[in-house]
Amino acid sequence: MNIILLGPPGAGKGTQAQRLQAEKGMVQLSTGDMLRAAVASGSELGKKAKDIMEKGELVPDSLMVGLIQDRIAQPDAAKGFILDGFPRTEAQAKALDEMLGKAGKKLDRVVEMEVDEKALTERIVGRFTCAKCGTGYHEKFKRPKVDGVCDVCGSKEFTRRKDDNAETMKTRMAAYRAQTEPLLPYYGARGVLRKVDGMAAMDEVYRQISGILSGA
Ligand code: AP5
Repeated sequence: MNIILLGPPGAGKGTQAQRLQAEKGMVQLSTGDMLRAAVASGSELGKKAKDIMEKGELVPDSLMVGLIQDRIAQPDAAKGFILDGFPRTEAQAKALDEMLGKAGKKLDRVVEMEVDEKALTERIVGRFTCAKCGTGYHEKFKRPKVDGVCDVCGSKEFTRRKDDNAETMKTRMAAYRAQTEPLLPYYGARGVLRKVDGMAAMDEVYRQISGILSGA
């Protein structure tokens, strides 16, 4: 099954995608993670994306479409993928339709994570990630079982994203409203859109998404 998780910054897309990957064998395709890896490696793409991401703006469609096209074509994506952070503009959505059509694949569901905007800044500023395996945590909502030690790989090093601050969050939210939210009616009209309550506890959100997948 191939799905998109759609929602504003901090809605919980990455949290749910990681769990779907671990428990259902689907592959998480996070364009944010791919871009951060490109920035860390100092590649051409990373050089172009770095400042844009730090400001909270969107990286140009031309770069994003090539990135996801290459990733979807890799063999592991054949067992089903979760798009986390893509598409974010109508041009990206159209390019996705085209690349899936050419590859003989289809989009089964688009899951909208409905959230109260007021809660998102708290989620974003409290977020941290294991520097070794990338597992996501939160100071209040998802602390490691042992303080300072990653539950999954035991690493004691954690990182925080440069764009995870209240100021940049305003730009990220504005980009979401102007460029990504219009994708909801786009997918609604095609009958693939389903909603989950992104304000519920993480386990409950996962239960709702699992229900959508088993009914698809
Ligand atoms: P990206 O990395 O995709 O960031 P984002 O969309 O802003 O989403 P986040 O990763 O911030 O949030 P999330 O929904 O995954 O939340 P999470 O699960 O971590 O993109 C970063 C940048 O890259 C963009 O700004 C842009 O510049 C560029 N970019 C990426 N893709 C692009 C594209 N396609 N086109 C153009 N540019 C692109 O949860 C957040 C926190 O809340 C966590 O700490 C978590 O533990 C906690 N939490 C999660 N769920 C719950 C819950 N139910 N209850 C309580 N806490 C919760």
